[in-house]
Amino acid sequence: MAPADPPGPEPVAPLGVRLADRIRAEGPLGYADWVEACLYDPDAGFYAGGGSAGRRGDFLTSPEVGPLFGAVLARWLDDRWEALGRPEGFTVVEAAAGVGTLARTVLAAEPACLAAGRYVMVERSSTLRAAQPVGDGLASVADLSEVEPIGAGAVLANELLDNLAFDLLEHDGSAWRRVLVDIGDGGFVEVLGAEAEPPAAHSPVTRPASVAGARIPVQDEARRWVEAALDLVARGSVLVVDYASTTPAMADRPVDGWLRTYRDHERGGPPTDAPGSQDVTVEVAVDQLPAGAATCTQAELLRRHGIDDLVEAGRRLWEERAHLGDLEAMRARSRIAESEALLDPEGLGGFTVLEWTLGGAVGS
Ligand SMILES: C[S@@+](CC[C@H](N)C(=O)[O-])C[C@H]1O[C@@H](n2cnc3c(N)ncnc32)[C@H](O)[C@@H]1O
Repeated sequence: MAPADPPGPEPVAPLGVRLADRIRAEGPLGYADWVEACLYDPDAGFYAGGGSAGRRGDFLTSPEVGPLFGAVLARWLDDRWEALGRPEGFTVVEAAAGVGTLARTVLAAEPACLAAGRYVMVERSSTLRAAQPVGDGLASVADLSEVEPIGAGAVLANELLDNLAFDLLEHDGSAWRRVLVDIGDGGFVEVLGAEAEPPAAHSPVTRPASVAGARIPVQDEARRWVEAALDLVARGSVLVVDYASTTPAMADRPVDGWLRTYRDHERGGPPTDAPGSQDVTVEVAVDQLPAGAATCTQAELLRRHGIDDLVEAGRRLWEERAHLGDLEAMRARSRIAESEALLDPEGLGGFTVLEWTLGGAVGS
């Protein structure tokens, strides 16, 4: 008789079942714990299941619109490298690198700063990391804490902070209270927990206390991530691009305007629905991040770093080669459409760019 196969790993219960067990054992979950499990549970979190940006993914981000975003960021990187006196070993760290789309397009633009430099992708999801390109001067790690201190360089994060776990507070008419996730009759429900202080932001929450039902996010994890990125760089920049707001502005808006869910390019259900099956994302409260960043919109950043020149060059190439209809002609034409999406003030162009500069680097 053939020996029996060794027992395989125990099957893991569905995420909803495990979260319900946890709530029964420990009581209602803090919102940050809930979001953390929904997005990053190693077996069934949204990103463990391969949820991602891209035309075939769940939502479209600037790098996924096409190569133009990376081509302009390559110019931005060269600008910062020049400002630092063209140091050798310039290091670019890209957090939330996903499957490496931005890395590919930055490298394809061949910025001079990377001729003797290196590019490190940081991506938490092992599913997405497995699809990243690998090669000369291109490294991949799972967490920022694995990156060696950077003498001169830049840390970039496009649409990372909106995807980090956050807590929620609701005003009950006399005080802010934590929003927790509990088990209700028909599934998971939000309930109010203990009183809590609003986040120590550098612009205070001015919402009058009498407005019951106002909600605000508490984005400690986003603040800690920026602090860690700032600690990493001796000379250079930390550049964050995201949809952003401020804590007081969010207190004045309905919560579903700034706390959203996505699945297959559509808005998803309430954040307590079907854990792990949808992206849960929040606008970034810039007043909760470390002070001192220069801010502009994505459209302003891209214009300052030559998007119009790249589009004009594409337009000329398209006119010369349209009759050939070859790949080069098509790529040139697609730049025009890409730039419209990237600069749209109601969409990606209106995103907020925050840049912290360190060690005497000059930004513009
Ligand atoms: C909205 S996607 C953005 C992907 C990409 N930057 C883009 O613009 O297309 C957010 C990504 O951040 C990753 N992520 C979340 N927390 C992270 C962390 N602490 N470090 C690195 N990546 C992280 C997620 O796994 C996900 O791939």
